[in-house]
Amino acid sequence: MTNFVPLKNTNFIRALQKQPVDRTPIWMMRQAGRYLPEYRAIRKQAGNFINLMKTPDYATEVTLQPLRRYDLDAAIVFSDILTIPDAMGLGLYFEENHGPKFQNPLRSEHAINNLAIPSEESLSYVYQTVSKCRKELNGKVPLIGFSGSPWTLACYMVEGQGSKDFLTIKSMLYSNPIILHKLLEKNAQAVAQHLKCQVEAGAQAIMIFDTWGGLLSRATYQEFSLKYITFILDILKSQLGDLSVPSIVFTKGGGQWLEEMSGCGANALGLDWMTDLDLASQQVGSKVALQGNLDPAVLLAPDFVIQNEVNKVMTSFYGNDKDGTGFVFNLGHGISKETSPDAVSVLIETVHRF
Ligand code: CP3
Repeated sequence: MTNFVPLKNTNFIRALQKQPVDRTPIWMMRQAGRYLPEYRAIRKQAGNFINLMKTPDYATEVTLQPLRRYDLDAAIVFSDILTIPDAMGLGLYFEENHGPKFQNPLRSEHAINNLAIPSEESLSYVYQTVSKCRKELNGKVPLIGFSGSPWTLACYMVEGQGSKDFLTIKSMLYSNPIILHKLLEKNAQAVAQHLKCQVEAGAQAIMIFDTWGGLLSRATYQEFSLKYITFILDILKSQLGDLSVPSIVFTKGGGQWLEEMSGCGANALGLDWMTDLDLASQQVGSKVALQGNLDPAVLLAPDFVIQNEVNKVMTSFYGNDKDGTGFVFNLGHGISKETSPDAVSVLIETVHRF
């Protein structure tokens, strides 16, 4: 691993470790994205999203854009969770205004049996971007690496695209659980390798996005999602040893089973806006740090509403006489592309002024 300059702003890392901070750290899911005119300009230059993400110079540039505009406390490498299935040969593509799709979705037992864990080489563009971002950040704020959860990746791999109810994979779950477990096992190996390589390339924290974990029941969530997340964090710790970095697990819709999640080995749990932050902190706040959870739609409202809603989130965490450590401010999901860049300034100032 290359030597990098020491980190100046350590608030995000300290919050994940439940240590005291100078101010509540804030970053936003999808902070590099279409709400920023400078992002749209580079995306146009790159031609399309896939080329943007696969070209380390472009990907580094858009990672850094929100950090130039705003006083954020972390950067997240610009990439996508679907890089892994793409590297497995599923053929990722985007239809304009349609979200991600795969040319070769997994539709048979045969296809799942033949699926290979991607070589590190096939994802080297991600690791190059991580190293480049870490160098260019020059110690300003920590860099987050990420991956999708095995379950969330499987949702796209089996359906071949996003879906409202993901009925193809859910019927597989009930009719053919053994095959689904085979797929999840391979995804878990691939995710562990992908996160390990990002840390070795310079990522200072990692986050696992389990966007579709909330489609499951409590019992199936444990068996088909949480079990594999726990496995990944476990092997990462043993493989990285002293190089281990703090981790965040975000299950959208996971607010009902935070207790179970708090034992998965993550330093922090990400919360969506449907989850009550105060209750969550009473339930698991002594065991893990929490990250969240402003409804991204708040950013479409007038400034005074944004200020009010931010203060509600802050009071809900710091309210009842808690020790006041272990909180990272974030949105409850990705920022909407309709958001005005000025609304984000109001958000960040309000968090830092609290
Ligand atoms: O947070 C960041 O700034 C880092 C970059 C990032 C992207 N995708 C860039 C992106 C991250 C962390 C992701 C994760 C991701 N990708 C998730 C998990 C988090 C979540 O949002 O639930 C999922 C489910 C995906 C899959 C994916 N990629 C979808 C569903 C889409 C379409 C979304 C849309 O709004 O159209 C993408 C494309 C994508 N990934 C965009 C960005 C900025 C929009 C691409 C564009 O410029 O057109």
